[in-house]
Formats: sequence, C-alpha cells, structure tokens
Amino acid sequence: MAVVLKDNVYWVGAIDWNIREFHGYETKNGSSYNSYIIMDEKVVLIDTVKKYMFDEFYNRIKKVVDPEKIDYIVVNHVEMDHSGSLEKIIEISKATIITNAKAKEHLELHYDTKDWEYLLVDTGDSLNIGSRNLTFVKTPMLHWPDNMVTYCPEDKILFSNDAFGQHIASSERFDFEIDYAIESAKEYFANILLPYRTLIPNAVKTVDTLELDLICPSHGIIWKEDISKIKEKYLEFASNNISEKAVIVYDTMYKSTEKIGLSIAEGLMDSNIEVKIFKISETPISKIITEILDAKYVLVGSPTLNINLYPEVARFLKYMEGLKPNKKIAAAFGSYGWAESATKHIKNTFDILSFDTVEDECLTCRFVPDEEHLEKCHEFGKKLAKM
Ligand code: FEO
Repeated sequence: MAVVLKDNVYWVGAIDWNIREFHGYETKNGSSYNSYIIMDEKVVLIDTVKKYMFDEFYNRIKKVVDPEKIDYIVVNHVEMDHSGSLEKIIEISKATIITNAKAKEHLELHYDTKDWEYLLVDTGDSLNIGSRNLTFVKTPMLHWPDNMVTYCPEDKILFSNDAFGQHIASSERFDFEIDYAIESAKEYFANILLPYRTLIPNAVKTVDTLELDLICPSHGIIWKEDISKIKEKYLEFASNNISEKAVIVYDTMYKSTEKIGLSIAEGLMDSNIEVKIFKISETPISKIITEILDAKYVLVGSPTLNINLYPEVARFLKYMEGLKPNKKIAAAFGSYGWAESATKHIKNTFDILSFDTVEDECLTCRFVPDEEHLEKCHEFGKKLAKM
C-alpha cells in the first residue's frame, strides 16, 4: 500500500528486496526506489522506479489516485533507477515532466522522448500546484550532472533524490523505525557520493536554510527524527577527519600474503591502532570502502599472479580508484615466486590517489615468509603506527 507522509503526500515507491549489485556496490540489504505523490489542485509524481519494478509502483499509485490524473512528473535525476518507469507512466498519464535542461538532455539520450512535454526549471524556480508550491534547486554531481532536489515549504519536505539515501530494502519507511539508518547512509555515501564530497558542505548549507519536517530521499528510509544528525554526519563523511584506524585488505593464493598482512596487523594492534582486516574475496567491497572512508592507514596485499595482481585485488583497486578516498598512509605487500609485480601495481593506484606510500623490505617475500620475516612485518606494523 501507499504510505501517508503528510495530508495528501504519499510514498508510492518499490522495494527491491533481492538486488545485491548496484554498479559495483554490493547491496547486501537490497534497496528501494522511492517515488512520492502530492495530491493538490495538480497531481504531482516525484521520480519513478526501476523499469522492472513498474507493476509494484503502479499498483501503489492506484491506491492513491487514478494514474491518468497525474499532471506533472518531477524528474530530479535521470539515472534509470529513478527514471526507468517514466515511459510507461507518461504513456498512461500524458503528464508534463518538470526537470532541468541537463536532465532533459540526458532523458533524450535514454528514451524516445519526442512526444514528451516539459516544464524546464532552474535553481530557485517555483511552481504553484494549488495550496502548495514546489521549489527546485539543482545539485549537479550529487550524483550526476542532472541532479536537482525539490522542496515543498508548506509541508516542509525536501525530496532529495540520491542525497541522504541508503540502500535498504525494508518494510519500515522512517528513520526511527530501524537502528541502522545512519550506518547505511555512511555506506551509501562512501560508495556513491565519495568522489563528489567537496560539494557536500555547500549542499548541507543550502539544506540548513530550509525548514524541514521530512527529508525524503529516493533510496531507503525517510529522515524524520534524525534530520539534524544526518546533516551533521554528511559533513563528517565529507570531511578529511580520520581516526587512528588501519584497514588491511588482501587476497591470497597459498596464505603467504595473508601471513604478511596479519603480522603487520599484530604490530599495529600492539601500538593501539584499531585494525580492520578484510580478505577481498570474502567481503563485499562496499563494506571495505566504508571502513576506508575515515581510516588513517590503508594496506593492500596481493600475491603476484602471472606478473600481475590477483584478480580480486585488481577489482578492488579499480573500485577504490574511482571513488577517490582522501589521503592515506599506505603500504603495499605480497608474496611472489620469481618476478615481483603485484605491489608495483598496488603502488601505482596509491600514486593515482596521492596516498603517501611507505616502503619496507619486509613487505614482499619470495614464496613463503619464515618466522624471521614475519617478525620484521610485526616490527613494521609498530613503525607504521608511529607515523
Ligand atoms: Fe539512485 Fe544516481 O541514482
């Protein structure tokens, strides 16, 4: 059923319980695509859902209004998780799309739009829909160049699209109904918005000027009781603040690389550094990136395989490279047989990310590290903790 948010404002989205992959982000908790309906003199639909979820979405709309009566559809963002059901709902409703010029350009590159009608808006533009007004603010690169948000001052609701979202599939719709909303928002931030973090302080400043009862993102739960907290957390996620934490990430062929990583970890732990260790092939990379967000140290280990990286490590490094975490103290480690190559590839990624790479002889090892070698790794961990 549709969920009432305020008088004549409804959630009519779709819950994707089983999605486990979202352009590389491993969504262990599924996701939702949130769409909203405002019933006023004009009927306004805000965003849609993925194409394959159309039926669920359509049935929810029908609980509120005959879909043919929709006058406007606000497209806050063109990515297909929000626009995938546009073609069908426009065909039924003949509604006018409210969006910005960049989004119109993107829509035309996704769909056959020749019969679509548009009302183009820019930052600060408002539209009266009866007893309410909708105001639009462009938020480019949060998450695509076409993004914007929609604010309704009468209801004090911000429809924020990807911003403040979380990949959660749940029967609950509000922050106070679950205890993992902030943690999920952090993971979402680390895996979706991290490359654009410098834009966050200004975005939060703009949100701070609004009177808010609800922030309604297009994924996950709606912020009601924790609006101040999520704004604060966004500033924290986007900051360069780091904690005394080391994230050790590796994969291993015959456990030699693992032994090196675990020995370094012992040295760090002996020096009271918090350590998180992840074997990449056993861990969602989205979880690893979330831990890296505020870590001071990042250590990546790989055996050399065919004069190259272990495949899982290569996958992780490319993912991290795209997300551009802030500066870290970094080290590459791994074992090899006759031609060491893996750590060179790892260090190349560190250079691209402007990490400060620490070198030490103990970080590479031919075949199997002996006790003496592992003791040097232990000492290296202690040395690293002093940096
Ligand atoms: Fe949820 Fe950028 O789409």
